[in-house]
Amino acid sequence: MTDNIVIETKALTKRYRPGIVAVDGLSMNVKRGEVYGFVGPNGAGKTTTLRMLLGLVHPTSGDCSVLGHKPGSPEVLARIGTIVETPAFYPYLCGRDNLKVLARLASVPYSRIDPALKEVDLLDRAQDKFKNYSLGMKQRLGMAAALLKDPELLILDEPTNGLDPAGMAEMRGLIRELGRGERTVLLSSHLMGELEQICDRIGVIKKGKIIAEGALDELRHGSRLKVKAEPLARAQELLGAMPGVGKIEQDTDALMVEADPASAAAINRSLVEAGIEVSELYMMKLSLENVFLDLTEENKQRG
Ligand SMILES: Nc1ncnc2c1ncn2[C@@H]1O[C@H](COP(=O)(O)OP(=O)(O)OP(=O)(O)O)[C@@H](O)[C@H]1O
Ligand SMILES: [Mg+2]
Repeated sequence: MTDNIVIETKALTKRYRPGIVAVDGLSMNVKRGEVYGFVGPNGAGKTTTLRMLLGLVHPTSGDCSVLGHKPGSPEVLARIGTIVETPAFYPYLCGRDNLKVLARLASVPYSRIDPALKEVDLLDRAQDKFKNYSLGMKQRLGMAAALLKDPELLILDEPTNGLDPAGMAEMRGLIRELGRGERTVLLSSHLMGELEQICDRIGVIKKGKIIAEGALDELRHGSRLKVKAEPLARAQELLGAMPGVGKIEQDTDALMVEADPASAAAINRSLVEAGIEVSELYMMKLSLENVFLDLTEENKQRG
């Protein structure tokens, strides 16, 4: 293992009972300083994997190392901040006092509390009772708790879960900030769009397996031709019969067409010549959402 790799798993497997393979031969690497997003549908095995990395769940087979050690050893845990379950706080204590309780338990000096509150932008509300915090603030206090040890690695399971769009955007900005510099962040989400905006690299997990891994640009290498035309059904029919045109999907009032970018002009001409009114026609880079759907579809066809 090189110093540059913070988390490494090899054929990591967790079988809960016969028939339930939560994590199935999963191999991945997380590099120092990156924000790595672990994305997959509900039940894909994200939480189980993260729990194995924290030493909370024992793998059935395979290997994993975190910061160069076996997961769960005290010297490693001292260097990791984590939110894997909704953190429990005392409702009648203020934010700062809640962190004092946790700091004492973790033998972290109280002098770390205000810097952690500052990192999540809660310093000016630190005296307010936890029960009066908004959901977003509660989540941020959980993040402050994870930051108490000034960890070099943050492991976050669905940190934006339950937040409204504004809260999600705020949390994304915060994670991006926290992941600057040397600190490594591993986070999970079932929402592709969430990770797309904050991660350097992404691992797509499905049924306990990584089905794709790479930098966003590597994963989003494909493109689609977006076609807005009237009547749309007739356009779809014509496009379907054209050579070189692949899959066609309807996206509200437009068609997303798999086609060679060089064929766009010819496609436009054919539609117009057939009496179809074309109002928009341009190449779009695939969103991570499209990539994910493509991958899972291929996977379905293969498996
Ligand atoms: N303690 C357990 N005992 C038995 N089965 C479990 C246990 N924990 C998880 N599983 C099963 O393992 C599979 C993976 O679950 P896991 O929670 O890791 O998925 P996830 O990707 O985190 O899903 P979600 O997006 O819903 O949080 C599921 O089929 C789940 O039912
Ligand atoms: Mg989960």
